[in-house]
Amino acid sequence: MRALILLPALLLAASPFARGEQSCVDCDVEAHGFASLNGGTTGGKGGRIVTAKSHSDLIQYAAAAEPLIIRVDGMLKAKPFGFEVPVKSHKTIIGVGANSGIEKGGLNINSQTNIIIRNLNIHGTYDGKNNWAGKEGDYDAIQVDNSTNIWIDGNHLAEMGDGLIDLRRDSDYVTVSKNRIEKHNKAFGIGWTTNVISKITINDNFFHSTNVRNPSGDNIKYGHLYNNYYRNITGYGNYARGQSQLLIETSYFEDVFDPIVAGPNGRVKTNWVKFKRCDGQIHLDVLGDTVFRATDFYNYTLADPYDIPIDVPYNSGPKADIGV
Ligand SMILES: *[C@@H]1O[C@H](CO)[C@@H](O)[C@H](O)[C@H]1NC(C)=O
Ligand SMILES: *[C@@H]1O[C@H](CO)[C@@H](O)[C@H](O)[C@H]1NC(C)=O
Ligand SMILES: *[C@@H]1O[C@H](CO)[C@@H](O)[C@H](O)[C@H]1NC(C)=O
Repeated sequence: MRALILLPALLLAASPFARGEQSCVDCDVEAHGFASLNGGTTGGKGGRIVTAKSHSDLIQYAAAAEPLIIRVDGMLKAKPFGFEVPVKSHKTIIGVGANSGIEKGGLNINSQTNIIIRNLNIHGTYDGKNNWAGKEGDYDAIQVDNSTNIWIDGNHLAEMGDGLIDLRRDSDYVTVSKNRIEKHNKAFGIGWTTNVISKITINDNFFHSTNVRNPSGDNIKYGHLYNNYYRNITGYGNYARGQSQLLIETSYFEDVFDPIVAGPNGRVKTNWVKFKRCDGQIHLDVLGDTVFRATDFYNYTLADPYDIPIDVPYNSGPKADIGV
């Protein structure tokens, strides 16, 4: 009986869909939104498929010069604590099923291009007391500096020592979609620059039980946010700092303090935004007529706002049928 059960797996490995040693379900998907421009974001598509079963495997594969689809199999324990694995250009890093990722460490993308981070769980550098404010050790889940064409999709990011996503220093053509961003202080920051360059799409994410930066964007050229769900946010929701321009469409804010805030030089236009038990500042329109139109750049589909509280939690985060 055993041999019969193994047979389909052997056939699959020999099928034309497998490259290198293995196949990988849903691993050739390309980015939408701003990451689809500037030549597109394909990650390791067309390269070998490899599997990282340890943190040192991941460090080695992520540093390779060649394009690679890197399957992360299991929760890989970061060594040393908090280490952010440097990722080189033309990589797809994808979790195998719903329960793979990095424990007590993260990823670092500096001066690279064309990288996809999908279907990973990244959590655990928050020590439960000292590093909530992010001052004691910069332990991000995903830090991106001076890089282009980055797609961060379908990850579960939670309980880290600094930011869950820090997009810094003119990183451009970025899409952040379907992530579950949870139980954290400073969730998602964009900026650390005086230049107004970054173009970023943020859609179908679930921000849950976080404090501030959901996201906070400083000097974003074009920030397009749609189909996002925010629940139990204690600090603030979307924040247009510096010269940022935010187009905020179909979003659902539930139990959020200061859901939409613009600084003195920020601009905001909203469209189909729903608030339930929210308090504090809600800047629906700040020089809205001067905000960019996303349809000049790409096509996209807005959800019905009433579906968001059900659909976004269900569809966000890692999935059992991806990367296997
Ligand atoms: C930014 O990245 C480019 C490569 O894309 C590199 O040539 C440049 O030196 C980097 N700048 C900084 C300040 O790191
Ligand atoms: C809301 O989020 C905070 C963390 O920011 C957490 O301590 C609290 O338990 C959450 N409340 C609910 C009802 O989930
Ligand atoms: C959006 O789709 C329409 C219809 O297919 C097409 O004409 C248009 O060029 C598309 N817009 C962009 C920015 O790709």
